[in-house]
Amino acid sequence: FGLIVSNSALKRKGWNWAKEFNKSKEAKDLAATEVAWDLGVLCDAGVETTQIQLQIFILACVAYPDWIAAAQKELDEVVGTNRLPGFEDLSNLPYLQAVVEENFRWRHIVPAGIPHATTQDDFYKGYLIPKGSVVVPVFAAMRQNSSTFDSPEVFRPERWIEKSQPSNFGYGRRVCPGRFIARNSLAIAIARLLWAFNIRSKDGVRINVSEEMFTTGFVSGPKPFVAVFEPRSKERRSLIEREFDMADKDVAHLLDEARGKQIAAGLSPQG
Ligand code: HEM
Repeated sequence: FGLIVSNSALKRKGWNWAKEFNKSKEAKDLAATEVAWDLGVLCDAGVETTQIQLQIFILACVAYPDWIAAAQKELDEVVGTNRLPGFEDLSNLPYLQAVVEENFRWRHIVPAGIPHATTQDDFYKGYLIPKGSVVVPVFAAMRQNSSTFDSPEVFRPERWIEKSQPSNFGYGRRVCPGRFIARNSLAIAIARLLWAFNIRSKDGVRINVSEEMFTTGFVSGPKPFVAVFEPRSKERRSLIEREFDMADKDVAHLLDEARGKQIAAGLSPQG
């Protein structure tokens, strides 16, 4: 299946990652199936993660809505009411950044972690971890550790403003290389959603979050749940509709633009 997707991407108009990776020196000695697997893993790591993290954000809105007013107040003060938030606003939105970090912490998309191996003997709190041991960082346990996070079950962005907290993207040389894209993608999506909508549960009553509400597996996200999105005003509603009508929906064109941005940033895309 991966091979079919990869081959169809190679035939498509405009720049894309399949074309780029196929022309790279790393792909030269790989079979087409191996290239397809590598692209598939990148797609899994980059696409599903951000999408699930956004569903987690919506769940946080219906389960712990107390922080929403503060985030919307900040957005209204910095952005105003006549335009949508843009990337240029993000550095002026410290509370929103805290919402994004809390979203990563509140529910980890890879609860059981990704195994690592020790390359040399190591000691942790007096315990010897011999070279070659498999170490499984259980992210679900770390984010629920009440000695690191007070009331860890509560979605509370303020904890990131009060003090810096450990990140959720792994550690060491295998730390998530997509964390900058992930943070920016989440921040712009969350900023625009909160600017545009009031997000609440169907009857206004907070949803009680339990472990059964999440899918099991390597990557875990919320099972379907109901959330209501109400435009915050008539004016905002028309602006959202206008922005949608005007937005570029031509994927080939958007990807070519991404290629142009890479060149502008000093990179040399080959695809
Ligand atoms: C919601 C957002 C994301 C979260 C929470 C997340 C989290 C993680 C975590 C915990 C790891 C394992 C790190 C370790 O083993 O110590 C990881 C690895 C990885 N992530 Fe992400 N990630 C996200 C988004 C992305 C995006 C957008 C991309 C690519 C554009 C990406 C690419 C990767 C890759 C390639 C690896 C494997 C790195 C390696 O093993 O050397 N991730 N991610």
